[in-house]
Amino acid sequence: MTVGELSGAVALVTGGGAGIGRAICLDLAAAGARVVVIDRSDPSDVADQIAASGGESLAVVADVTSEQAMVDAGAAAVDRFGGIDALVNNAGVFASLASGPFEQISVAQWRLAMDVNVMGSFLATKAVVGAMRTRGGGRVVNIASTTALKGTADLLHYTSSKGAVLAMTRALARELGPDGILVNAVAPGFTVSTGVEQNSDHVAGMRVAAPGGRVLKREMVPEDIVGAVRFLCGPSSGFITGQTLVVDGGAYFH
Ligand SMILES: NC(=O)c1ccc[n+]([C@@H]2O[C@H](COP(=O)([O-])OP(=O)(O)OC[C@H]3O[C@@H](n4cnc5c(N)ncnc54)[C@H](O)[C@@H]3O)[C@@H](O)[C@H]2O)c1
Repeated sequence: MTVGELSGAVALVTGGGAGIGRAICLDLAAAGARVVVIDRSDPSDVADQIAASGGESLAVVADVTSEQAMVDAGAAAVDRFGGIDALVNNAGVFASLASGPFEQISVAQWRLAMDVNVMGSFLATKAVVGAMRTRGGGRVVNIASTTALKGTADLLHYTSSKGAVLAMTRALARELGPDGILVNAVAPGFTVSTGVEQNSDHVAGMRVAAPGGRVLKREMVPEDIVGAVRFLCGPSSGFITGQTLVVDGGAYFH
């Protein structure tokens, strides 16, 4: 077992197969967590990379919009590692979404953003909370976005979905606090992730504009986010809940 601040903890990461989620998985594993990598595309390469570094990991192919798939993923984690300590709700759609004036957003695109980004976090949390209660506590970290804080235009489906994630974070913190389950959010700024690289035409304008709006004038990469997530999964944040930690190089002061 890897020795670190999360030594022995069992952490589930949705959307862990690529982008920000992948970086989170590798970092939590490096801190000693046993990581359940959940993704709708086979994330075995991430689990293999963790194993090659001496860590323990389980790859689970599952779609966060399926209630049964999330229940099965939680059960697989308990079966393999004996319990669940942390969940990172990272799976989301962003760069593949069509942007533009809100009247041009289709119902199908609206539903996609809400299904994956909001309902997916709801279903994954619902699936693990019983195991966390059995453990006597746990951590939920929701990956939100600064778009919800800034009110970013021309992405109303996405911005609204992340606003819901922030509201869910606060309400669940109140509901789950008595069980010792802490619920927080990390709100990243525009990040050059796998999805951004794959949809470069959709996000070209944002990619150019983002560094100029920051105190720290460079592109943001997935590795910039992992420390905040690890902190909120670990022993140093044991009296913090219902909060949103902005990680964006100083573009939005929350
Ligand atoms: N990239 C950014 O600029 C940015 C900024 C702020 C917040 N975020 C948020 O960070 C998270 C990760 O974004 P990213 O840019 O790394 O994305 P990405 O597209 O690079 O990776 C997303 C991963 O989630 C998986 N996924 C998507 N839908 C899924 C589903 N229904 N079930 C299971 N897995 C699913 C994908 O297969 C992929 O592996 C998202 O919640 C996103 O909204 C991204």
